[in-house]
Amino acid sequence: MKHINIAIDGPAGAGKSTISKIVAGELGFVYIDTGAMYRAAALYAIEHGIDIKHEKDKLIENLDSIEIDIKHTENGQKIYLCGKEVTERIREADVSIGASDIAVIPEVRLKLVELQRTLARGNHVIMDGRDIGTYVLPDADLKIFLTASLEDRAMRRYEELKQKGIDCEFESVKKDMAYRDKNDSEREFAPLKMAEDATLADTTGNTLEQSVEMIKEMIKTKMEQLGV
Ligand code: CDP
Repeated sequence: MKHINIAIDGPAGAGKSTISKIVAGELGFVYIDTGAMYRAAALYAIEHGIDIKHEKDKLIENLDSIEIDIKHTENGQKIYLCGKEVTERIREADVSIGASDIAVIPEVRLKLVELQRTLARGNHVIMDGRDIGTYVLPDADLKIFLTASLEDRAMRRYEELKQKGIDCEFESVKKDMAYRDKNDSEREFAPLKMAEDATLADTTGNTLEQSVEMIKEMIKTKMEQLGV
């Protein structure tokens, strides 16, 4: 049987992971959050006192020690770093910035992309990230580029963090997001970019339910076209 791959790319806070998780659950796909892997790699550096921006060589030397696992449970996806669960910790601000900084290093990307491609093999997957349609799964059956205004994205992320009990200021969430947008779009290797054959989905002003419906319809239409 043919396995369907859906690639969802876009900037931070566009709703990629929230929407992908819901739609994957409803349509029976495996959801793969590639951002969580960059976050876990950044946490490794933070916990080992490695300065991501100035000690790239040290990081690359330690690459084989960075063990990342994703487990799918009834309570959603859990992320493990070297055997320890880090699902909540990797959402904090220091890890977000660290992930964007570590993501410019080609050696790190190559390691994580290998893991991502392995996970995609043999399953119907929805994979979200920055370079899925352009680099990780260039032959994906459907590519969606999900975006929204910076103001909207920062507000959604601010509310999400507050709800999780993480202390933060709106302005600083927005500033960190703008930093990551620029870093992610301007890096040389596999930058954040809309694939030529991707469909643009702008969720500015949408409720979560509206965005979920929009993405679900796009995927269902594609599945009908493919006869799955
Ligand atoms: O959830 P949010 O959109 O804030 O970010 P994320 O998807 O968890 O990704 C965190 C960081 O990892 C991004 O800012 C990117 O720098 C990097 N990333 C990447 O370079 N390529 C991917 N496929 C996914 C994430």
